[in-house]
Amino acid sequence: SESLNCFSVIKAVWDLLEDKGSNDTGLLELSKTFRACKTVHSVYPLALWLRAAFTTTAMVDYPTPANFMMNLPAYPVKEMCKIIDSFPAEADVIGKAFAAASLYYNYTGDQKCFEVEGGDDPH
Ligand SMILES: *[C@@H]1O[C@H](CO)[C@@H](O)[C@H](O)[C@H]1NC(C)=O
Repeated sequence: SESLNCFSVIKAVWDLLEDKGSNDTGLLELSKTFRACKTVHSVYPLALWLRAAFTTTAMVDYPTPANFMMNLPAYPVKEMCKIIDSFPAEADVIGKAFAAASLYYNYTGDQKCFEVEGGDDPH
């Protein structure tokens, strides 16, 4: 199928973010999609937030649950892929990327909103 798998969702999301965040309406929508505690003023913090989730998870892709960087399940990269692939193929790519990143930021399920601007990630 032509559906966007992980790899391609993560590859595609950056340009889509930039396009959507090119105006205030888009930034407001993106702030909602990313459950940002405060409306963002540019896409840059959102891109950094996503990048930190994907790069750090790739670094701590252990076969056992770990809380070395954040609380994560075993094989977190595989879990992120499962999240992305569980969406209908035609679902919004940005929404898929957000859901995958949420594994990193909210695996424990206790986050009310994300401090995307200013950095939620102490690492
Ligand atoms: C974090 O996860 C919980 C449980 O799935 C969910 O109810 C909550 O909305 C999530 N928080 C954010 C900011 O997405």
